[in-house]
Amino acid sequence: MKKTGVKIKKIAINTGGGDAPGLNAVIRAVVVSALNKGYEVFGIRDGYNGLMKPEDYPEGGLIPLTRRSVRGITHLGGTILGTTNKGNPTKYPTIGADGKMYEKDRSDELVAAFRRNKIDALVALGGDGSLGIANVLAEKGIRAIGVPKTIDNDLDKTVITFGFDTAVSFATECLDRLHSTAEAHRRVMVVEVMGRYAGWIALNAGVSGNADAILIPEIPYDINKIAAALKERPKRGKHYAIVVVAEGAKAKGGTVSVVSKELGRAEKLGGAGERVAKELEPLVGKECRTVVLGHLLRGGSPTTFDRLISLRFGAAAVRALEEGRSGVMVALDPPTVRYVPLKEATSRMKVVPLDCDTIITARDLGISFGD
Ligand code: F6P
Repeated sequence: MKKTGVKIKKIAINTGGGDAPGLNAVIRAVVVSALNKGYEVFGIRDGYNGLMKPEDYPEGGLIPLTRRSVRGITHLGGTILGTTNKGNPTKYPTIGADGKMYEKDRSDELVAAFRRNKIDALVALGGDGSLGIANVLAEKGIRAIGVPKTIDNDLDKTVITFGFDTAVSFATECLDRLHSTAEAHRRVMVVEVMGRYAGWIALNAGVSGNADAILIPEIPYDINKIAAALKERPKRGKHYAIVVVAEGAKAKGGTVSVVSKELGRAEKLGGAGERVAKELEPLVGKECRTVVLGHLLRGGSPTTFDRLISLRFGAAAVRALEEGRSGVMVALDPPTVRYVPLKEATSRMKVVPLDCDTIITARDLGISFGD
């Protein structure tokens, strides 16, 4: 973890990858605490596009951020800066001389743009992809602090990422609503939730929302085992069921359902819920319907927990800069926040440990994981 004594004047903030509730709260905390400490603050539009493609922004790729620009945004979803998960500067989709597309490392151009714009430091709000880019920039000499964002909660070295609590709360509310309609029609409702290759959203919402089965990437499932568990329910007078499926769930010996893979961006997942519903229907002899919560999990106001953690993370990021740190991510380590090297936080994905208490609780409550 590098510490540098060089004074900074101008800070830039960027938001990269999929949006998550709490981004605006972090932006506000960074701006207000940085202004209070005498720094100037700018926002980079749409990930790094404001710096990489200035020609697309006649109004300026950098937005000056003042107290006025961040007034009243703590509770708003989305991001006032815009974001993108296309155009990773380290894997930029580029046409080659042969007319084919390939991924090019353009991070040196981004570093040059930072220098040209006299930006002394970066506060990057992102998940593993965006914070990986921040780490590359830090290694190339840009002072950078990461703030862990993602509804997936799959970033390592922090107890939680902001956005996760809001996504889980909304998914749980949806499950609550589905119980009554599932019961009324004696159906199996299969609910697909986001989360990429980690099952945090599915597990936490599934347990809180009283699901009968929860399928997560960490536990490959056997469809016959899920069917057998659901067929026990009528014996207890329950003629319906709720099955939560993480988008990254896969059958034993099977693969994740991938919709598409484009250059310069992560693969798009989808279809896991539909696949489970189709296979379950003949086995349980009940109508199985699918609900995909998808991007609804990323919208809306952050919960109180996410607002608070976002404000704490934003203020801590500015303190980190003041202390001369670089190449670190702000991490929740209750009751405090600490700083962990970006490299460590982004070098492996935080998946659900199979022996964690939430999984044990789920099993004690009779929830099937299909294993
Ligand atoms: O990483 C956040 C996330 O919402 C994942 O849960 C999901 O797989 C992905 O982003 C969807 O991204 P996009 O909006 O590009 O389809």
